[in-house]
Amino acid sequence: MVGAQQIDRVRRRGGACRQVRGPTRIHCGPVNSPPPGNTCMPHGALAAVAGNGCRGGRCHEPERGSSCPRRTYSPTAADRRWKPSSSRRRPPPGPGKLLVAVRAAGVNPVDWKLRNGYTRPGSEPPQYPAVFGSEAAGVVEQVGPGVDEFAVGDAVFGNPLTGGYAEYTLMPVAVTAHKPEGLSFTDAAALPVAAATAYDGIRQLDPAPGSTLLINGAGGGVGVAAVQLARHFGVRVIGTASAAKKDFVESLGAVHVPAGPGVVDRVRAVAPDGVDAVYDLVGGDALRAVAELLTDRKRLISAGGKPLAVELGGAAVVRARTAAVLDEVARLAVSGAFRTYVTQTYPLAEAATALRAVESGHTRGKIVIEVAAA
Ligand SMILES: NC(=O)c1ccc[n+]([C@@H]2O[C@H](COP(=O)([O-])OP(=O)(O)OC[C@H]3O[C@@H](n4cnc5c(N)ncnc54)[C@H](OP(=O)(O)O)[C@@H]3O)[C@@H](O)[C@H]2O)c1
Repeated sequence: MVGAQQIDRVRRRGGACRQVRGPTRIHCGPVNSPPPGNTCMPHGALAAVAGNGCRGGRCHEPERGSSCPRRTYSPTAADRRWKPSSSRRRPPPGPGKLLVAVRAAGVNPVDWKLRNGYTRPGSEPPQYPAVFGSEAAGVVEQVGPGVDEFAVGDAVFGNPLTGGYAEYTLMPVAVTAHKPEGLSFTDAAALPVAAATAYDGIRQLDPAPGSTLLINGAGGGVGVAAVQLARHFGVRVIGTASAAKKDFVESLGAVHVPAGPGVVDRVRAVAPDGVDAVYDLVGGDALRAVAELLTDRKRLISAGGKPLAVELGGAAVVRARTAAVLDEVARLAVSGAFRTYVTQTYPLAEAATALRAVESGHTRGKIVIEVAAA
């Protein structure tokens, strides 16, 4: 049971509230339905941080169309400790870390997967309520011991350690780079996960100029960057996406092929000599279908369905996660080699809505939470 002031604070932190029993009994948590095939959403959870949270339980990384075990949720006393302490809001940076005042945070599918119970391989399960957000940009507020590369007041972007959907976050210098002046905080916040994954994948496949690359899921955050980068490197790109994204995908420089049943025939129609490589960003049946296009499955990589790609004879995208790659994607963005295509922005108070939009699986380009005015 929470009071009106708490509800107000929950809302301001991006939580969603619904009244379930009379005027004083309010439960907070996601109010939308679980996406089709995904039953990991907590029910009536008192999850009050931005993006909401679910408690306990595990599920496999939910690829689109897969199902996760249903878990029931009972709020505990710990859940009610949702209000971050002042030290949590401005955590002191340890060695090799920066305290960053966040200006913008990118929203990625991994955020809702973590909310729904996914645990990154080799990582501890998130403690819920949790703060999400794997990419952010902001201004250095404090530097930890041993940090020479950055100073207070520097504009930076990178992979936060403590979640980007926040006013302050910690960033390890190993995955932080200086934000070029020619790049807004909003655009810089879209680089560390989406654009860097696009860059890593294209480098991994290393397609020859003039060869044909199929990008499966060309209209999303990773896809838009991957299409443009491949084109920048002189590669012919075929991009699958929904019919509604035809003009968008073509504007990026790709040949658009509508996704869905029959996609293989449609790709063969526009590439009668076949495709030389596939970069999948969707997973599931859509990955299984396009894998058929390759006789040499070593030319298949996936960010959207990594275990399935391996099962099909391909590979998972290998993420570099280095400051050098962040510098390089920023340089490419400033040079005009690609644009981030941030198509929607939300204030921090609407982080839960932003997360649900990405969870829909059909957003266009990138969605970014703008935390504070630049
Ligand atoms: N470290 C990593 O390994 C890493 C990093 C980043 C992302 N990822 C993963 O890579 C995937 C893509 O990430 P993202 O940020 O690009 O996601 P996103 O922004 O949600 O984009 C996904 C795109 O896929 C399209 N799509 C959905 N079903 C499709 C189908 N059957 N065929 C073709 N396109 C389809 C959607 O648009 P339309 O259906 O409307 O065309 C959407 O634009 C996610 O699974 C994410 O978790 C992994």
